[in-house]
Amino acid sequence: MALVTSKEMFEKAYAGGYAVGAFNVNNMEIVQAITEACREEKAPVILQVSKGARAYANHTYLVKLVEAAVIECPEIPIVLHLDHGDSFETCKSCIDGGFTSVMIDASSKPFEENIEITRKVVEYAHAHGVVVEAELGALAGVEDEVNVSADSAHYTRPEEVEEFVTRTGCDSLAIAIGTSHGAYKFKPGTNPQLRFDILEEVSKKLPNFPIVLHGSSSVPQEYVKMVNENGGKMPGAIGVPEEQLRHAAELAVCKINIDSDLRLAMTGTIRKFYNEHPDKFDPREYLKPARANIKELVRHKLVNVLGCAGKA
Ligand code: G3H
Ligand code: 13P
Ligand code: ZN
Repeated sequence: MALVTSKEMFEKAYAGGYAVGAFNVNNMEIVQAITEACREEKAPVILQVSKGARAYANHTYLVKLVEAAVIECPEIPIVLHLDHGDSFETCKSCIDGGFTSVMIDASSKPFEENIEITRKVVEYAHAHGVVVEAELGALAGVEDEVNVSADSAHYTRPEEVEEFVTRTGCDSLAIAIGTSHGAYKFKPGTNPQLRFDILEEVSKKLPNFPIVLHGSSSVPQEYVKMVNENGGKMPGAIGVPEEQLRHAAELAVCKINIDSDLRLAMTGTIRKFYNEHPDKFDPREYLKPARANIKELVRHKLVNVLGCAGKA
């Protein structure tokens, strides 16, 4: 199967009460881990590339890695998506360069400006058979070089979504309901709670329209412990409870973004490996268990959190 857009994926996910996983990719091992888990679990998947990933690995390398995954995993639909596109130019470069989906994130701009930029990207993308995710509301945390403090984060206003979607023509909408980017989402000792009331209001205003959740890592404590027991320092790293993500997937949420969890699994595994084998120096020896652990983590997400196993 060639690369696909997320259109049909989201229609099925909405109707089926599950979400498709959108995992960030930066190198070969991560692409392999995600797509092998998805192939074995027969799950559709979105591989997403940030501006930082393009700067790190180079656009062409990433596209070719994803194309290799398409060849190796012909049974499953795969979307190649730009995560947090910051301008029309970045989106255009990805549309021209083989992506099937882009996000234009103008959520930090005033409402009218967000509409204007998003509409421009939608016009270009649709003319080239590419779909567009947009965002309303501001998540806390770090994404690319932008660091949004908890104070300046704000929830999506349901009264704005209908006008935004109608005027921009975007294909999916990322909303802020309490998730945030990175590994420190909630204060230790507090009770993490997503704002399902906002999600429900948004979905009433936008029936059958796919909603996206960013900042949806759960920060598995086994990997936080592994990092901390092997020379790392990540005190108080806490994520979104998996049951709440599962519930969101049953509602209008069709795409759930997960990056930090994969980073944690990779870092924890590599730290442990070197702690246990200080004499080793072949990168394949530490990347192999790191890749294996990411694969098992993705499998767990597909089966127990997203509910998309068997839906390819
Ligand atoms: O939301 C941001 C993603 O986790 C990508 O992170 O910009 O460091 O590649 P990055
Ligand atoms: P996490 O930092 O929670 O993994 O979020 C990733 C994300 O939203 C990528 O766009
Ligand atoms: Zn994000």
